[in-house]
Amino acid sequence: MRLQRAARNPLPMTPQEITLVQTSFAKVAPIATRVADLFYSRLFEIAPDVRRLFPEDMAGQRKKLMLMLGADVGSLGVRTCADGHPAVGFGV
Ligand code: HEM
Repeated sequence: MRLQRAARNPLPMTPQEITLVQTSFAKVAPIATRVADLFYSRLFEIAPDVRRLFPEDMAGQRKKLMLMLGADVGSLGVRTCADGHPAVGFGV
């Protein structure tokens, strides 16, 4: 039933949307450090209070952010089993 599906997955992405996100991410990947820098600059501009939650040297944090985003973007549309491994070949 549509309602039940919406409750489990409120914002399902179409294959086209997934492709758009993945191709856009691939374009910014070569300038990942700059992108992360822009992200945190904007974050600290609109929410200065959160700056104290982060380390003074943001180099490692920038790397973690982009690695995490890359992993998320790369796994869009990939169904996973309960333990997180891709559900490939199980007919799901
Ligand atoms: C797309 C958005 C975001 C992604 C992908 C992301 C991802 C991450 C990752 C991968 C870490 C490192 C975790 C670790 O060291 O094991 C982290 C840490 C953290 N994140 Fe985020 N984050 C995002 C947005 C935000 C925002 C908006 C805030 C604050 C309002 C925030 C606050 C923090 C804090 C305080 C830490 C811990 C920093 C430390 O090591 O001291 N994050 N985040």
